[in-house]
Amino acid sequence: MPGKRSVRQLDVANRRVLVRVDFNVPVDGDGRIADDTRMRAALDTINYLREEKARVILISHFGRPQGRVVEELRLGAVAGRLSELLGHPVVYVPSLDWPTVAKSLAGLAPGGVALLENIRFHPGEETNDPGLAAHLAGLGDAFVNDAFGAAHRAHASTTGIARLLPSASGMLMEKELEVLGRALKAPERPLVTIIGGAKVADKIGVLENLMTIADALLVGGGMANTFFLAQGLEVGTSLIEPAKVPLVKTLLARAAELGRRLVLPMDVVVAREKATGSVTRVVPIHAIPKGWAALDIGPSTREEFARLAASAGTVIWNGPMGVFELEPFAAGTEAVARAVAACPGTTIVGGGDSVAALEQYGLAGKIRHISTGGGAALEFLEGRQLPGVAALDDAGEGTV
Ligand code: 3PG
Repeated sequence: MPGKRSVRQLDVANRRVLVRVDFNVPVDGDGRIADDTRMRAALDTINYLREEKARVILISHFGRPQGRVVEELRLGAVAGRLSELLGHPVVYVPSLDWPTVAKSLAGLAPGGVALLENIRFHPGEETNDPGLAAHLAGLGDAFVNDAFGAAHRAHASTTGIARLLPSASGMLMEKELEVLGRALKAPERPLVTIIGGAKVADKIGVLENLMTIADALLVGGGMANTFFLAQGLEVGTSLIEPAKVPLVKTLLARAAELGRRLVLPMDVVVAREKATGSVTRVVPIHAIPKGWAALDIGPSTREEFARLAASAGTVIWNGPMGVFELEPFAAGTEAVARAVAACPGTTIVGGGDSVAALEQYGLAGKIRHISTGGGAALEFLEGRQLPGVAALDDAGEGTV
């Protein structure tokens, strides 16, 4: 895909610039923002536009309200946090009525910032309705997409609007594409990828693509059980996806054919129950007892994964190695988090659970790049084109 026009190539002074951001942040039980990483990640673009005297109009989704107004998913608290982060007031526009929205934005001064209400309150957002895209485009003179986390969605506020206005990528979008793109296209080798998580189904595309690129592909977490099953091993009561066995067999055969190292756990932590107080045992993978479930990678596997991660030129890690929320099954994920954090090469981590584990162990600051994309990062690692990026103007189209 050709390079995309950068926000720096947009003529923005005094113009109304619509910026799609991903402020879909986690909140606690009281609706308070639990982690504002995604908001902080968008500050470079917002501050740049403010300095260039643009009138900045932010658009974000929040949760999955499915085209209806859901009071708990309003963006008022997000607007409040953003004004704290910017040290500048943010005009929050709670209305969904277009003339009212336009009126609220009319007084926005150069360098001013406004945040529209949750765009998914509009039924046309997820259907990429041209009417909604036109309403949005009518509010601005140019469009910047800085929502890497939503770039895998072809929605009115990501792709629809990009076709109606001069468009460009924001700085966060550029950084994500640059770091992840280099890791796939020209990584410092060896490239070691560590993929975990509960289900093979969620990671098939990633495994297929990374297998053709990575020097070593390490597989852990619940999804490894289906690999054991495919190899004819007893898996006890472990989480498995029998329907995926043929596909896993194909993946294993393909890895052998390509001469790639697909490294599966050699031992696991098993328990009869998935609970904090469970009695656990460490067993080799060919000795999982009937009635017991594999819930974490074992100590030999931890050592091997850590050894491979330590010597990597580039590590990409996505997905936990076990049920790390429960203390008896957290050691595998912690070991991988520590090994990735200690790797002197380029380290890239994506996926909510892996990032949460890093935060939990105080290691987030030691990672070269923590992606703000969950599904978007996975789709990118699958080698797929992200529609939100594809829709933007190419760099060759010059400054507008
Ligand atoms: C995310 O949290 O991964 C993004 O904000 C996308 O959200 P969605 O999966 O609801 O589209």
